[in-house]
Amino acid sequence: MKRTHTCGELIGKDINKKVTLCGWCSTRRDHGGVIFIDLRDRYGITQVVFDPSFNLEPHKIAEKLGREDVIQISGIVKPRKKGMENTKLKTGAIEIFVEKLEILNESSTPPIEIDDRVLASEDTRLRYRYLDLRKPAMQQSMLIRHKAAKAVRDYFDSMEFLEIETPILTKSTPEGARDYLVPSRIHPGKFYALPQSPQIFKQLLMVSGFDRYFQIARCFRDEDLRADRQPEFTQIDIEMSFIDEDDLMEVVEGMVKHVWRFVLNKDLKTPFPRLAYEEAVSRYGIDQPDTRFELRLVDVTGVVKHSNFEVFAKAIKQGGIVKCINAKNCASFSRTAIEELTSFVAIYGSKGLAWMKMTDKGLESSIVKFFDENVQKDLIKATNAKKNDLLLFVADSDHNVVNEALGNLRVELAKRMKLIDNNHFSFVWIVDFPFFKKDQEDNWTFTHNPFSAPKPKHMEWLMKKESIGKILTTQYDLVLNGTEIGGGSIRNHKPQALKSVFEIMGYNKEEIEQKFGHILESFSYGAPPHGGIAFGFDRLVAMITGNDSIREVIAFPKNKAAESLMEDAPSEVSENQLQELHIKLDFVKESVNAVFGKIRDILNKEKIEYEVLEHKPVFTSKEAAQVRGTRLEQGTKALICKTEEGFIQAVVSGAKELDIEKLQKLTLFKKIELANAKEVRQATGCNIGSVPPFGNLLGLKVYFDKSVVENDIVAFNAGQHTKSIKMKAKDLVRVVNPVVGEFGK
Ligand code: AMO
Ligand code: AMP
Repeated sequence: MKRTHTCGELIGKDINKKVTLCGWCSTRRDHGGVIFIDLRDRYGITQVVFDPSFNLEPHKIAEKLGREDVIQISGIVKPRKKGMENTKLKTGAIEIFVEKLEILNESSTPPIEIDDRVLASEDTRLRYRYLDLRKPAMQQSMLIRHKAAKAVRDYFDSMEFLEIETPILTKSTPEGARDYLVPSRIHPGKFYALPQSPQIFKQLLMVSGFDRYFQIARCFRDEDLRADRQPEFTQIDIEMSFIDEDDLMEVVEGMVKHVWRFVLNKDLKTPFPRLAYEEAVSRYGIDQPDTRFELRLVDVTGVVKHSNFEVFAKAIKQGGIVKCINAKNCASFSRTAIEELTSFVAIYGSKGLAWMKMTDKGLESSIVKFFDENVQKDLIKATNAKKNDLLLFVADSDHNVVNEALGNLRVELAKRMKLIDNNHFSFVWIVDFPFFKKDQEDNWTFTHNPFSAPKPKHMEWLMKKESIGKILTTQYDLVLNGTEIGGGSIRNHKPQALKSVFEIMGYNKEEIEQKFGHILESFSYGAPPHGGIAFGFDRLVAMITGNDSIREVIAFPKNKAAESLMEDAPSEVSENQLQELHIKLDFVKESVNAVFGKIRDILNKEKIEYEVLEHKPVFTSKEAAQVRGTRLEQGTKALICKTEEGFIQAVVSGAKELDIEKLQKLTLFKKIELANAKEVRQATGCNIGSVPPFGNLLGLKVYFDKSVVENDIVAFNAGQHTKSIKMKAKDLVRVVNPVVGEFGK
């Protein structure tokens, strides 16, 4: 037998037993010839003692022991000396006097510390994840993850649900993100898609009569990563037949309750409150509100429309709104703090953050003069402002900007004001979502899930395709402490109604047949009424363990750039493999991209100050602003355009779009269109989205919109998605020497 006990087991009653333990050398102390080792395994730590007066042989070997060596020891359990007990450790009353030591395997010096101090960068931790996972906190997270999965399975098993696996190589599911595609060798030019969720299969299982299905399922979405998103993640996926919303919510609340009791020994109060989408946005600005604290948004449009403050008046005139947060007792915030908050709301597109402080004498701020006495009175009333409160306002013609900016500011303020109780779990169902929204091209698209049923009272609108924007869906999202942990709906089980959804979304007969033929066909053979939900299992476990990032509760997650640094994935494949799959690469390798070098050379030569930023790959101006910590308008969109005489470069600020008509007027080119990815590579040697506003270095004529030069500082991708340069706008103009005009919108 290799071991008689684990390292987390031996206590006072085991004294005098002869035992054998295996584990890793965690720490080692030399005390006047006596060597103490903390022997560690999954179960805990046991102190082992090499005392030369007790046994010379093992002591000699122990002198060579290093951190993370794997050893086996046999010896006798003894009580620790009086006063030397460690009450924090389960095994703290005893130690083992070693009679025999065998080194099972030596360890190289570990590149990261194997304890719960977080010293290494996340990328280093992920590079050596197998060591990182040895840390007690990580082991605890994996244990809790296991327990949560077990609790889920036990619960559903007790309720007659069947766990059924669904395919991984399948056809694209419309969940709203990009698909990961897998090329088929046998069918050249054809691709499988990895499932974004088992949505269609679980509905087909309902048609098959498995009226209670669940699965702990892997899902794959090629989307922009954040702390709570991974390219592959795990869902607790659920579907049921012959139920309504209330039935489903009850079953699911039972599951959550069971998990919390089993894993945390906590009793949750159910049913969870429900909040209509509109109400959520009105109060909290966002549809995944953190309801552990109040700090509500107040719509003051009606009050301030009578003010002379141009910023507010203009937004309202353009159909916009003005909302306010009353930050209680925050009048002491410094100018710098308010400036920080202003930059914070800028991330969400807000053009500013107006503020007023409440004092003995009433409201104070540089803008108060634009608000007459009555308006001030109404404002104080509407926001319930008391002495020492700070009122923060955002105005915009776009309601979403106001809500998103203040909704996120609300959470940021709560953190600064220490309003959040980290031991509290606040669940809320968000219901009554609109079914459809307009996409960027002004077409209708679904907000959540095209398979959802509308609210029964709106079925008629759906069938007649009228009042489309007003149709509400049966969608319900479960939000916990500001994170959406689950979402689902009652489904549209009548083929005709489902077809109507696809038609509203602009699909023609052939497209509907090609994309959804199999599900529509199945529904024609007696689909039962059904509905379901899916939980983000990683998010759930992160909430349970109190982690901000789901990466902390996934054994082998991808980093922020969707890479696994440990095994180096994604990685290049051999020419042979590509040939077998009939794939030809059409991409410039960024490692050989010379544009960055050229820019650096010219900036150095001209003695211009600049800063190089390395970051995760970014593909949109918004993302770029976030990783660079700059404002949206400080970014540049360096667009390659095709004209009748070849390529030119038109540069607008990150907050603007290109107005082609105006550019035509400025340049006198008759034909101007945006180049496609291939043309961009051809013209610049850079991949689309990473082109710097240095077209001159690439032999292109360059035009700057005035929105670029209006900036003090500008930042741009320097030929790579992972690299930016930040510099003064006036220096950029000096070295690029563009034609400056106005062609942004
Ligand atoms: P939805 O797309 O809302 O619904 O996903 C359900 C839940 O999965 C989690 N989630 C993620 N977790 C980590 N990384 C990601 N990239 C990620 N994307 C989503 C969220 C989310 O609430 N088929 C429907 C469910 C249904 O209608 O039954 C679906 O997938 O916590
Ligand atoms: P300005 O007139 O641009 O100097 O702005 C005066 C104040 O109004 C500053 O505190 C700005 O941050 C703020 N402000 C500007 N635009 C907005 C906006 N859209 N919403 C709220 N406050 C704004």
